[in-house]
Amino acid sequence: MTIKEKIDQLRAELHRHNYNYYMLNAPEISDKEFDDMMRKLQDLEKAHPEFLDENSPTMRVGSDLNKNFMQVAHKYPMLSLGNTYSENEVTDFYERVRKALNEDFEICCELKYDGTSISLTYEDGKLVRAVTRGDGEKGDDVTDNVKTIRTIPLVLHGSYPKLFEIRGEILMPWTVFEELNREKEIREEPLFANPRNAASGTLKSQNSTIVASRRLDAYLYYLLGEELPCDGHYENLQVAANWGFKTSEHTRKARSLKEVFEYINYWDKERKNLPVATDGIVLKVNSLKQQKNLGFTAKSPRWAIAYKFQAERALTRLNKVSYQVGRTGTITPVANLDPVQLSGTIVKRASLHNADIIEGLDLHIGDMVYVEKGGEIIPKITGVDKDARSMLIGEKVKFITHCPECGSRLIRFEGEAAHYCPNETACPPQIKGKIEHFISRKAMNIDGLGPETVDMFYRLGLIRDTADLYQLKVANIKTLERMGEKSAENIINSIAASKEVPFDRVLFALGIRFVGETVAKKIAKSFADIEELENADLEKLKSIDEIGDKIAQSILSYFSNPANRELVERLKTSGLQFSRTEEELDGYTDKLAGQSIVISGVFTHHSRDEYKNIIEKNGGKNVGSISSKTSFVLAGENMGPAKLEKAQKLGVKIVSEDEFLALIL
Ligand code: IVH
Repeated sequence: MTIKEKIDQLRAELHRHNYNYYMLNAPEISDKEFDDMMRKLQDLEKAHPEFLDENSPTMRVGSDLNKNFMQVAHKYPMLSLGNTYSENEVTDFYERVRKALNEDFEICCELKYDGTSISLTYEDGKLVRAVTRGDGEKGDDVTDNVKTIRTIPLVLHGSYPKLFEIRGEILMPWTVFEELNREKEIREEPLFANPRNAASGTLKSQNSTIVASRRLDAYLYYLLGEELPCDGHYENLQVAANWGFKTSEHTRKARSLKEVFEYINYWDKERKNLPVATDGIVLKVNSLKQQKNLGFTAKSPRWAIAYKFQAERALTRLNKVSYQVGRTGTITPVANLDPVQLSGTIVKRASLHNADIIEGLDLHIGDMVYVEKGGEIIPKITGVDKDARSMLIGEKVKFITHCPECGSRLIRFEGEAAHYCPNETACPPQIKGKIEHFISRKAMNIDGLGPETVDMFYRLGLIRDTADLYQLKVANIKTLERMGEKSAENIINSIAASKEVPFDRVLFALGIRFVGETVAKKIAKSFADIEELENADLEKLKSIDEIGDKIAQSILSYFSNPANRELVERLKTSGLQFSRTEEELDGYTDKLAGQSIVISGVFTHHSRDEYKNIIEKNGGKNVGSISSKTSFVLAGENMGPAKLEKAQKLGVKIVSEDEFLALIL
């Protein structure tokens, strides 16, 4: 077998196993066998770049090259649907269709998936482009990100039209959403309000490895093209399912208005048991011929309508407001409620966000409050039933002035909604929270230590801060509750292994307010070691891409605290990585610092992606479109005429490939 044949064989097998696993839920091989096969293919592809294939299963792993999305015009505009919340309007729609068609018709009833819409183009059975809705006329090309979604086929089976589009919804399943928010909560990052925001935020991520890790899903519901297999919309989707697309198994055809309402009423309740969010039902005239006869208004088709479910709301009593202290000292007020049934779960607590919200609601203890879940997983209080207030109305809720955990006076920064406890080095939940963040997977990745173990170690005085972890011995912990020789050894080994974690993740692990993963990466690229960072002034910090006043101030404030400097010293003495390795330093310069560069055309020496990488490694920024702020256009052969004209008009310099390479030499 030639190398090429071997590669093709591996690709075909991996496509098949991917389908078995993600679409049929029926894997034939173990995860390990799958991973091994994938690794084998990756190695071969790396050794033989001449056999590159944009649709190889390895493309699903993502790449962490930054990208600015290209805007692409939709071949068919992406329209929205007329919305209604009323059953009468559903009847009106049905009657309108009947009058206009004056013949028998069927209505295809579908779930309205609540994610972010996507248009996929397939040519010769291969995914060639994935574009977001954008403004309906043009959207962002997010193909690389979409390729990481396992339920979207990269290559199709069976016989399909040579060229077609298929549209659908990209979703984040509830379980993934909840897990992601739990992780975000630990890191004190802002939570995603609902799976829809999480899905669209993820899809727009600049880093496709992040997209790959988020386990997005997709349902396809609209086929477009010149040569579709059937006249029925429903039938087309069934055929598309055979090509490898994930279509909803809950789609039904209705032959009467009564059947339409049966579908609506069934799903209004049953949707709570679905793994993904839905916010209504979509009704579509099934025959494409009839669709064509009915046509479109300026904004939406006359052959379809969306019936939206009412967001669920419940009325219950507010018993108490308690306050949580997070890792960086943020105080979150929480409403404690009489338990109430809402969207399938029992709600006892709801976030009150901040002091302003409490004030705005004019909240009193004992009030009857409205709780809503809508698309949001964390219930919120949307109002107070003031009529239900009796003579016995409780006290007005006043935001606390002191930390409920350590008694320190709270502070509130100019222009910020949240209150903070400033006692970062001695307030127990802040200390424990910092340790939990430090050991988390994306930080130091210390296995075997969870929040309960951290809590126990803390209570027993074994650890008071993150540096104490590196002093732990098997002998100290093996006799503790739920521990044993083996798990104690695992923990100690895992702590030791974390000494190899690279500089950027160590920076992230320190838990400096506003220094998330991305910012930590940028810092690690710009500073050779922690001393350089400790000594940087405001100007120096703000000169780094993505670091503004707020982050810079937070870094300064962190290092102005002697306790933090001492902690870093102790961690350094324990052997953690506080400088970039030679490998990370390799090839980084600031020759293009502060420059915004557009790439256009075809190149001979490197690929476009490589040029993007080169620009970033040299401190520049690759941007998608030309504006007056563009420093220059890196132009290969056949630069687009529209881009050329725009550059000339704005007086933006055009730099050839060779000139560019000389520039960064
Ligand atoms: S059909 C021209 N079907 O709802 C009609 N849309 O406001 C094209 N959606 O942008 C859309 N589930 O993001 C259709 N089963 C479904 C849908 C659905 C969710 C979304 C879609 C669209 C919006 C319509």
